[in-house]
Amino acid sequence: MIIKQTPNSPIGVFDSGLGGLTVLKSLEKILPNESFIYLGDTANVPYGTKSAEMVILYSDLIMNFFLKYEIKAVVIACNRASAVAFQHLKKIYDIPLFDVITPSVEYSMKITKTQKIGVIGTYSTIQSNAYKHMFRDMGDVCSVLEISCPLFVPIIEEGWADTSIAREIACIYLQELQEKNIDTLILGCTHYPIMANIIQSVLPVHVQLIFSGETVGQKLYHYLNEHKLVSTSTSGGYVKFYVSDFPQKFIELGGRFFGRKLIDVTHISLL
Ligand code: DGL
Repeated sequence: MIIKQTPNSPIGVFDSGLGGLTVLKSLEKILPNESFIYLGDTANVPYGTKSAEMVILYSDLIMNFFLKYEIKAVVIACNRASAVAFQHLKKIYDIPLFDVITPSVEYSMKITKTQKIGVIGTYSTIQSNAYKHMFRDMGDVCSVLEISCPLFVPIIEEGWADTSIAREIACIYLQELQEKNIDTLILGCTHYPIMANIIQSVLPVHVQLIFSGETVGQKLYHYLNEHKLVSTSTSGGYVKFYVSDFPQKFIELGGRFFGRKLIDVTHISLL
């Protein structure tokens, strides 16, 4: 299906649930005049524990949902979906599509001095070696150490991101990174920016954290400029939120991830 992209069309952003709101927050900052349609697949969260087949299926349903809005680009904010569904979706949809893995890998390769890079993410993102493969595909010789931190997501959702419990767990997970002389750490999960202070505090000060919202935001910014697709609005764009289920705490938790109260949240069915 071919969609005509126009400058004032919105940009679709999707995630398994709330986490992608950290990405959306960065996109909004980098592209303040753009409009966004955010889809949180709260009926199927977490993607981190689902098989690749299921995550591809959900991502497909979400792309079909976006087609109704004549979006001009789609950002896959979720790392797990970026790892397993990006290539599949690219083959099927004639829409500019952005994953969160490629831009973070490109940026890390540019800034590392020690050529030692860490990546943290959910169990299945790390198991898939998606980041390592991306470094390899780009012909890079960096040594990449990937570590899964499965307890970070529930800790963050519980509102404990800045507590001593979070710090202790981060110390345990990240111990190997402390010893490996990395100078760059990719936060390979949508939730982790919420815990960035604690993560940074348990690592040597020179380690630079990479936020996928910022790297994909820069990539999108350049794409829109190069393709003359920048919004002509000068008064700021709109943001509409859609969820595939309405968990009780969605608005409260979502506000914490997005940095302000979520308004205009609509419950839809993807089926
Ligand atoms: N959004 C997911 C990711 O970035 C984390 C939450 C989940 O497992 O669904 O990998």
